[in-house]
Amino acid sequence: MPGLFVFDAYGTLFDVHACIARFEKEAGPDIARMSDIWRTKQLEYTWTLTLAGHYTEFWTLTERALDYALARVPSVPKALKPRLMDLYFQLDAFPDARAALKALKAAGHKTGILSNGSPKMLDGAVDGANLRGELDAVLSVDALKMFKPTPEVYGLVTEHFECKASDVSFVSSNRWDVMAAVSVGFRGLWINRAGLPDEYADFPPAKVLNSLTELTALA
Ligand code: LAC
Repeated sequence: MPGLFVFDAYGTLFDVHACIARFEKEAGPDIARMSDIWRTKQLEYTWTLTLAGHYTEFWTLTERALDYALARVPSVPKALKPRLMDLYFQLDAFPDARAALKALKAAGHKTGILSNGSPKMLDGAVDGANLRGELDAVLSVDALKMFKPTPEVYGLVTEHFECKASDVSFVSSNRWDVMAAVSVGFRGLWINRAGLPDEYADFPPAKVLNSLTELTALA
């Protein structure tokens, strides 16, 4: 039966770290550590601000997290900042993203994104990776001014598609995002490309997949 597959954006459809790794020649091997700190702080800011009852859009938090990461890893030249921000605006999709979305659409499913990214950032990434035609909706938490994993945010999906939570297959490489999706009644599909250990035992994913390609077997 045709269903609905909704994807997380950064790290699930768009490959943040591989894009940044292209700067290794100029920035040296510490770029990988800088990239990890950048991502960790970006997410931490969304969680801490949300818990404290505040909201600042994801693009600004991404920039603040980069400032912090560059300060923590001084061997990476600070002059790279504008180019790193530009790159974050137009990331490449993972090589398997387009084909997986296409296959889901061909099987009659609807597809969408639910992301912390601000609408402008998501437009940049979706159009840059040429994925627009494969997506029925690109939903940003900005509509509610709250970040994942606030339960209301996942409600944007059921509201937009006028469906029940149990109709939604939610695909994310972030185990915490899958936890929150499962806790609101979605079918959680965890993309565990790196073979990480499982977490959040009370909210298990319906399936753990190694790649987006494996989604087509479920379609
Ligand atoms: C997103 C982040 C969490 O796209 O990856 O929402």
